[in-house]
Amino acid sequence: MHEALRDPKVTATLDRLHAAAKGDRWVFLRAAPAGLWSLLTGGSMLDGILPYLKDAYIPISPEQGELLYLTARLVDARTIVEFGTSFGVSALYLGAAARANGGRFFGSEREPNKIAAARAHLAEAGLADVAEVREGDAMRTFADLPAPIDLVLLDGWKDLYLPMLRLLLPKLRRGTAVFADNIFTFPRELASYVAFVRDPTNGFESTTIPLGHGLEYSVRVR
Ligand SMILES: C[S@@+](CC[C@H](N)C(=O)[O-])C[C@H]1O[C@@H](n2cnc3c(N)ncnc32)[C@H](O)[C@@H]1O
Repeated sequence: MHEALRDPKVTATLDRLHAAAKGDRWVFLRAAPAGLWSLLTGGSMLDGILPYLKDAYIPISPEQGELLYLTARLVDARTIVEFGTSFGVSALYLGAAARANGGRFFGSEREPNKIAAARAHLAEAGLADVAEVREGDAMRTFADLPAPIDLVLLDGWKDLYLPMLRLLLPKLRRGTAVFADNIFTFPRELASYVAFVRDPTNGFESTTIPLGHGLEYSVRVR
């Protein structure tokens, strides 16, 4: 019997998706002129490239995925929540952990093509019965999640990390692990989020793990 992440259906799907995600560089190349134009006209790079990102995986790395999976196993996470599912790479690691722990994974995505693809990838990996991808803005679709939430991955657009954490806060328990990706990529945009989880009066202990693009790892201690 295989542990959930080592199931051949899961590993084959992950291998395929990590390989496909290498095509992101072409998406970013196509998007670059629009991003630069946005910068030159007073907007942000993200504003300019946003329309192109519906085709980009922008996934977590395999090392981040292993860490998320093993942490979910360590804390016996039964309710696992992800803000920003994209094509479902991180969802496969977290869905596998939900399967192994006898729990459930809740993903979120607002791009219709990505929602359909993520659901298909979870089904291909044999995880459809333990995983759901909620459709639309997660600030709305995550309003009625079950409690307690045991593990969270924040990987959607960066301006919503802190509002999302605040939304989920009443459902987090002592010991809930909260991961937030791209701390090194967006230091300015994520400064208020990092300040919040580093402020002991907010009930977390937190550190940045230099994995992938910087993974903030916070544990609710109160
Ligand atoms: C960096 S990608 C996620 C990558 C994914 N976690 C993985 O590792 O495969 C961010 C995704 O968040 C989605 N997103 C951004 N804001 C969102 C929101 N408010 N609600 C739901 N999804 C959102 C975007 O459409 C995008 O696909």
